[in-house]
Amino acid sequence: MITIELEGRQIRVPEGLTVIEALWDTGHDVKRGIGCLSGLCGACTVAYLEAGAQRVKFGLGCQTVVAEGMNVIMLPYFPSRMARYDLAAMDNPLGELPEHYPELYACNDCKSCNVCPEWIHVANFVKSARDGEYAITADKVKDCHMCGLCASRCPKSIAPQYVGLYIQRACARGEAMPANLAKRLQEMAAPAYDTDFAGVMAMSDDELKDYCRKLACAIKES
Ligand code: FES
Repeated sequence: MITIELEGRQIRVPEGLTVIEALWDTGHDVKRGIGCLSGLCGACTVAYLEAGAQRVKFGLGCQTVVAEGMNVIMLPYFPSRMARYDLAAMDNPLGELPEHYPELYACNDCKSCNVCPEWIHVANFVKSARDGEYAITADKVKDCHMCGLCASRCPKSIAPQYVGLYIQRACARGEAMPANLAKRLQEMAAPAYDTDFAGVMAMSDDELKDYCRKLACAIKES
């Protein structure tokens, strides 16, 4: 067992748990801020101070393992502006970036945004975006989970995750859709999964838990 400070309370938890598992272990009913539990959805951002450290670090609650003396909190959703646009209707989406995200050009390269739990050098891709190096930007930002931690730190109210998304979409617009994605979209548009969805929606809480447990086992074994 180790002692940590979790959401402002000193508690003892088994070693080796992630922040989210530690919250569950201590009876917290955490539902908001949790999605995939696999480090993919970016919903579970946390801020933590390691024992003896001065600098607060940021991470994902489902991936950050608690350690003796750690002081950790889950962060709430951070609001940031996402431009509204219809990419298909634009003649030159990359040329229109300044119109949709004018704040990007106010960046003074302070690097406060470099808090990415995916180790993306955010300041670096913001600079490429500002300099019009769009293909490079799209490549640098491809692992973004849209957690928004970078936006929460920017003194100029830039939302790097949305700027990156815009550039990725604009760069990919003219490219052929991967065959597996096209196939899956077709399946979703057809009623291929309607019966499955209806079955899930009709389940009680206990049936749903049991279903998810079995599904997780099946995925693990496959
Ligand atoms: S719950 Fe999805 S990244 Fe942690």
